[in-house]
Amino acid sequence: MQPLNILAIETSCDETSASVCSDGKILSNIVATQAIHEQYGGVVPELASRAHMQHILPVVDAALKQAGLPLSDLSAIAYTRSPGLIGALLVGAGVAKSLALALDIPLMAVDHMQAHVLANLIHSPAPSFPFLCLTVSGGHTQIVRCDDPLQMEVIGQTRDDAAGEAYDKSAKLIGLPYPGGPLIDKYAAEGDPLKFSFPEPQIDGLDFSFSGVKTSILYFLQQKQKEDPQFVEKNLADLCASIQHRINSILLGKLRKAAKETGIREICMAGGVSANKGLRRSLQELGVKMNWNVYIPPFEFCTDNAGMIAITAHYKFLAGEFVGLEESAEARS
Ligand code: KG4
Ligand code: ZN
Repeated sequence: MQPLNILAIETSCDETSASVCSDGKILSNIVATQAIHEQYGGVVPELASRAHMQHILPVVDAALKQAGLPLSDLSAIAYTRSPGLIGALLVGAGVAKSLALALDIPLMAVDHMQAHVLANLIHSPAPSFPFLCLTVSGGHTQIVRCDDPLQMEVIGQTRDDAAGEAYDKSAKLIGLPYPGGPLIDKYAAEGDPLKFSFPEPQIDGLDFSFSGVKTSILYFLQQKQKEDPQFVEKNLADLCASIQHRINSILLGKLRKAAKETGIREICMAGGVSANKGLRRSLQELGVKMNWNVYIPPFEFCTDNAGMIAITAHYKFLAGEFVGLEESAEARS
């Protein structure tokens, strides 16, 4: 039988990515990162769209070459429909539609957040259903209950900043460039996580809040820098370790609560913040303590990538979930 070969395209934010998967196996996952945003301290939507336009065709070409497949062997095309920056999404959607039309093959529109969760199915051992997934990225923080590849429910989410935003905004307060999350991770390795204490928000249920932590860091730094203008330089590692400890303890506290309430012990993590070494280690340790089976995708499938769009499209294809050429990308899910 002809293998099911899917080309997937992801352009929701500042990574231009294409992936080919064959019968659910990822053959390539090419990601072009846009360095241009660093100097602006955040992603500039207009520049992101332009950079996607520049990168998208070479990235698609590289994904096909690495997979060793010509365009004529593709069974279907998939693209990220939402959520994301609308101008960025439209670039990927336009290329995907053009290819589907030219090759006369089916088209699939994938939800980016659903795809982050299903990145956990790319490698084995994969979690069994139902599982819980803590999805932590620059734009979202969610606890998702997943009963089937195409059936999932958000059971907890942030009421203000996302975890990645909390990392990036805290990093900015201590003078680190954007995106600060990976830098906090790096310096935290040498620091004492209990040196400085930032308050834990009191939010009922499974929802998160990070804005209070950010404000408490701001006031704390203003006070300390009044006493010693060199405070941040002298305490960088301990500050990073303490900030990381607080953000991660908020995340894992709610995950623990969700596992208790649902009785689910298959626990996954997804999204860019799951690259955080402290978070990965703490989740593994908590998993041992709570007798959970813990799954964390390899780094390249944690941050934005088209491999996760491809694996989601694989299940959509099997379920016959196709879209027409008139379907549009949307900024919100
Ligand atoms: O999922 P992602 O690549 O993009 C979306 O937001 O969809 O996540 C990016 C976020 C950024 O906020 C970045 O600072 C954060 O993930 N991040 C990290 C680390 N690596 C990436 N945060 C903490 N520690 C890291 N090692
Ligand atoms: Zn993402």
